[in-house]
Parts: sequence; C-alpha cells; structure tokens
Amino acid sequence: MSERLRIALTKGRLQDKSVELFEAAGLDCAPVRNPGRRLIHALPNYPLDVVLAKAPDVITYVEHGVCDLGVVGKDTILEKGGAFYEVLDLGFGRCRFALAVKKGSDFYGTYKTRRIASKYPNVTRAFFEGKGMDVDIIKIEGSVELAPILDLADGIVDIVETGATLKENGLEPIEDVAQVSARLIVNTASMKLYKTEITDFLSRVERELGGKA
Ligand code: PRP
Repeated sequence: MSERLRIALTKGRLQDKSVELFEAAGLDCAPVRNPGRRLIHALPNYPLDVVLAKAPDVITYVEHGVCDLGVVGKDTILEKGGAFYEVLDLGFGRCRFALAVKKGSDFYGTYKTRRIASKYPNVTRAFFEGKGMDVDIIKIEGSVELAPILDLADGIVDIVETGATLKENGLEPIEDVAQVSARLIVNTASMKLYKTEITDFLSRVERELGGKA
C-alpha cells in the first residue's frame, strides 16, 4: 500500500507557484487554492498532504521528519542551513542576493570597518569572510533598505528581484552575492523509507519542469 507523503510549502509567493507546478503535474490542489484558515490539506487525487508554513519552518519540519518534502527558497537554505537533501531547482522564485549601497557611495574606498544591515546575517557573514573582510552586521527584520537611508549602515545584503525597491530608495546593487530560486528538499530518512512514493512524486514534477525547459 502506498504511504501518504507530507510536503511543507512556503506560504505566499512560492505557494502560488508551487500549486501551479503541482497542478500541471496532475495533482488536484483545489484544497490549497481555497485554504481558509486551515494549514494542512489532503489532496483528493494523490497521496499527499500539504502543510503551509513560513520559509524557515519548512526547513525545520523537513529536518525533523514531520514533513517528508518541502518547497523553500535557496535564500532560506543558505541562511539557515540544515541536514536534508536538496533535490530539485524548481525554477521559480528567481532572484538574487546582492550587496547594495547608497547610489554613488564608495563602499570599498575606506579602511574603516563597514557596517552591513541584513535579514540574512549568516549569508552576509559568509560573503564578507570569503573576501577576508571584517564587517559589523546588524540584523534587520524587513524593509532593510531603510538602514542605509537612515545612516544606520553603509550597505545592505538583501534579495533583489526587479530592483525597483533599491531604485526607489536611492540605492544601487554593487555586487552579486548568490543566485536564489525555489528548491525541493527531502528528509534524509524519508528518502530511504518512502523511496517509491518520493520517486513517483519527483518524476511527475521533473517531467513537468522538463516540459517547460
Ligand atoms: C523583498 C526584499 C526587497 C524587495 C526586493 O522584500 O527584501 O525589499 O523584496 O524586490 P524588488 O527588487 O522587486 O523591488 P519583501 O517584499 O519580502 O519585504 P520585506 O523587505 O519587508 O521583507
């Protein structure tokens, strides 16, 4: 008998794109399209239960094995890390991490320790460590673009999608830090225990992704 799998989807933008992909792969996602306040949904035509969660929690649930699979952005994976298999680049949610500064400012033109604001302190630390550069990092929870405007920081490391937020706030990207897109992750034990079920799910998704390429 086939085991029911459980997948955690990152709520919001990635949720809509994930649902589109799964529907194209033949899964009826009507319960996820009309979720109300429910956070877990059984799909009617495929042995899969869908959990809706915040990005870092998707990783937590998959790492602990309470969800077999997850859809989460590479940004969160880079920031949080963890033990799981990253099996597929789903191709949507594409953006990049960039270092951005006030337009026209000379970020590298001083020996003074630079101060960087970011929602992603670990990504920021790794980036500057890679350069052998000592920086002070300030963790900000949102609208990070405010930090240089308010003169709290010399620069930010943040997600850039269209670049509009930077532009409208007088900032400019000066360096790419990493590319980001949605990834499918799998719990390491589930991969062995439910190999048949997971392989079936992955091949459906891969077939759909291949069809788009
Ligand atoms: C993200 C990111 C930037 C913006 C980039 O913020 O932190 O602020 O989107 O998008 P753009 O390049 O298309 O302008 P989000 O909307 O997630 O809000 P937050 O900053 O409050 O976290």
